[in-house]
Formats: sequence, C-alpha cells, structure tokens
Amino acid sequence: MSGKAGTIGNAPRETTVAAQQAAPETALLRLGDQEIELPVVVGSEGEHAVDISKLRSQTGYITLDEGYVNTGTTTSAITYLDGETGILRYRGYPIEELAAHSDFVEVSYLLMFGELPSAEQLDEFRQGLRQHTMLHEDIKSFYSGFPRDAHPMAILGSVVGALSTFYQDSLDPKDPSQVNISLYRLMAKLPTIAAFSHKKSIGQPFIYPRNDLSYCANFLQMMFAVPTEEYTVDPDFAEALNLLLIVHADHEQNCSTSTVRMVGSADANLFASISAGICALWGPLHGGANQACVEMLERIKADPDGVGKYVDLAKDKDSGFRLMGFGHRVYKNYDPRAKIIRATCNRLLSKMDRKDPIFEIAQELESVALSDPYFVERKLYPNVDFYSGVVYRALGIPVGMFTVLFAMGRLPGWIAHWMEMHESNTKRIQRPRQVYTGAQKREYLPVEKR
Ligand code: ACO
Repeated sequence: MSGKAGTIGNAPRETTVAAQQAAPETALLRLGDQEIELPVVVGSEGEHAVDISKLRSQTGYITLDEGYVNTGTTTSAITYLDGETGILRYRGYPIEELAAHSDFVEVSYLLMFGELPSAEQLDEFRQGLRQHTMLHEDIKSFYSGFPRDAHPMAILGSVVGALSTFYQDSLDPKDPSQVNISLYRLMAKLPTIAAFSHKKSIGQPFIYPRNDLSYCANFLQMMFAVPTEEYTVDPDFAEALNLLLIVHADHEQNCSTSTVRMVGSADANLFASISAGICALWGPLHGGANQACVEMLERIKADPDGVGKYVDLAKDKDSGFRLMGFGHRVYKNYDPRAKIIRATCNRLLSKMDRKDPIFEIAQELESVALSDPYFVERKLYPNVDFYSGVVYRALGIPVGMFTVLFAMGRLPGWIAHWMEMHESNTKRIQRPRQVYTGAQKREYLPVEKR
C-alpha cells in the first residue's frame, strides 16, 4: 500500500514512523493491475488511518489483522493514549491531573457526558447516584442460588445481566431518557452487587448501602461492616480506592470495551452489553491479570529460588510462563497508570507503617526485568495490574475481588463508549469478515457409508 507521503507498513512500529510524517489525503493501493485510492483519516492528536471500508466493494479483497493489532474499529472522542510515550488522557485531561484533583464520580461524569461538571451538575449527579444504590429485594435471592465458592466476577456478570429483567421499562438503547436512568442504576448498583458477592462468599449478611457516604466509602462499608459492630471507613483507604477506580475508568478500545461496543452494536440493551464486558474483563490476559499477578508474586515469595528463576522462566518460550502484570498491547513505555498506583502503594503502606513482602518482591521483579535485554528489547513494562493487587491487599480486599474492582472502575468508560456508539450517525452492527480456510464443497455421505 503506498500513499503520496510514502509507504504505510503493516507492523505497528513502521506505522508509527509513517504516522509522524505529514498526512497524505489518500493512500494508493496497488493490487496486480488495479490501483485504488483510499481515504486517509486524521485524528485530533495526529493519528493517521487508512479507511478501507470500501475496499471489498471496489476490489473483492478484505484486510486480515488477527487480534486487531493494526485495526481501528471506530473514531472516538473519549480517551487518548499514546503507548509509545506513555500518555493517557480522558476527554483531553491528563490522567495524572485527574488522579491528583478529581474523584471517581466526577471522572465518571467527565467520561460519560464529555465535560467536567459544574458544582451544581456534580452535586445533582452525586444525588442521582445515591437514589439508586439499593438492589431490588428479589435480586438477593439470586445470591442464594450461587455456590458459596462462585467467582465474584461470575456473580457480577450474571446479576448485571439480570438487571434487564428488573428494569424492563428502560431497555431501549434509542431512548435517551431510558439510557440515562439505566446509566444511574448501573453506576449506583454495581458497588452493591459487588459487595454482596463478597459477603455471600464469606457467609456474612449483606450490608445495605449508606447514602450519606461517598461512593468509595460506601463500597468499603458494604464490604467490611458487620451488623453487630460499629464500622468507620478509613479515609486513606477510601482515597486509595478512589485513585484505583480513576486510573481504571477508561482505556479506549481494549478487549472488554470493544466487547461492550460489539454487543451494543446489535442494539442489545445497556445491561446486557455491560454484562458481556464484565465477562471479557474476567480473562487473565485482560482484567484478570491483577489476580494472576498477586498469585504469581505469592508463588515467588514461597519459592527459595526467588525472582531470578521467574524472570528466566518468562524468557523461556517453552515454559508457558509469562510475567503477569508485564507487557501491554499498546504501551511500549511505562504504563502511566502503573506509576500512579505504585506511588499510591508506597504512600498507603508507609501511612499504615506496614511492609508487604509482596510489594518488595514486585519492586525487585520490576528492577530485574527492566534491566534485562529480553524485556528491554520487547519494550515490556509493568502495566496497570502489576501494583494494583498490592494496594487491594493492603485495603483487605480478597484476591477473588480484584477484577471486580477493575470492573467497578471501568464501568463509566464502558457506558461512555456504548453511548458514543449509539449517538454516532455512522453506527452499524459490528460484523467482521474472515478468510475461509476449511474444506471446499464436498459430497455428503450417509452415516452408514462413512
Ligand atoms: N512475560 C514474558 N514475555 C512476554 C510478556 C510477559 N508478560 N508479554 C509479552 N511477552 C513477549 C511475548 O512472548 C512476545 O515475544 P516474542 O516477540 O519473542 O514472541 C513479545 O513479548 C510480544 O508479546 P505478544 O504476546 O505478542 O504481545 P500482545 O500485545 O499480543 O500481548 C499482553 C499483550 C496480553 C498484555 C501480554 O503482554 C501478556 O500476556 N502480559 C501478561 C498478562 C497481563 O499482564 N495482562 C494485563 C494487560 S493490561 C490490561 O488488560 C488491563
């Protein structure tokens, strides 16, 4: 494929180099004797894309890009990230500034509605969320049906999907007022659903939401309070949770967000789409990596051979072992979220006057890996999941709940993308193509002749 400004290669690195040059208006594609012009799309931060949507109708060819390594599925105005330099911005605001000055509810508003709220809008939004924190009493009976050892992500996905049976009055994705009430319900109820799944797993009674508390403080009291005792939320814990939710709140077209968009593109309702996103997030190559990472650190702690053995294992392709919390499809630099979480970790542990051997192992592993040519050459750095588990542990959150907290953080991002897709006048059902490699037409043999 060649454009006026030169060749646009397939490999991500080459594409980045080409993208730094001035954008041509079109790219020329030569296929045998045929030459066609393809439009070039330029994003607001100078990202370049070749629009191939007419390629098949003009040439009979499709593009093939397993894992969507080099494929944009949409334009989006929500989150900008530059993986080469380690930049992450929500609606134009750097993640570092939002983490320093905002809270999760305000960031959620920004992501979903596009602008930072005025004081009045923010107050109204908080009040609105407070009105919807309780679950329908019948939802509680779902929890009795799950086995005691059910993974809380399985419960979360199921109960969120089941919300569509309780709120049948608000399932139409084309009605903005129905979408709006569903958005409030989801944001307000997800912490309650999550905390109930934890209480179920330890056999304690459910603790109802308290609307006088902040979003994070309320979640912590639903997780840790018991009816028999007074419970006071530690403000340092609520603040650490707030930061974790902010840094997880959106990350453009990742696996779970793309899932939410894909399911939503069929006009499935918001609850069904978010439930699908929760299932995608559960995978250990995605949000499940925070659980896998702490389990790996525990394993290293228990092993007298220490960190070096695991760095060697990660480099050995036959071992099937990867350093969890390391590497990222997009970041080829230090993940800015990991920096914020690492600092939170330091702050929290020193305030608690506590040493966590897992945190020490994580830091040692990071420094060994970052000076090893295998990781340096492949640009593998700690990602958001590397230190988040250590903070969750310090807060007393059990390992099985780590990915649930990721889902709570990612919820406003999922909703923002789902709404952006529905508001777009170019929305179509998402339906990728394939290159068929199976058997050609053959004769059917009745079973007795096979
Ligand atoms: N440990 C050891 N080697 C690794 C690791 C790792 N964690 N990650 C990537 N590599 C190596 C690969 O073996 C490959 O090497 P090669 O070029 O010699 O074959 C090279 O680095 C590129 O890796 P890919 O798997 O091609 O990269 P991809 O973009 O497909 O995968 C992923 C990204 C899934 C995040 C990967 O780095 C990984 O498995 N990391 C561990 C799991 C993890 O932490 N996931 C959380 C991601 S963040 C999130 O979803 C919120």
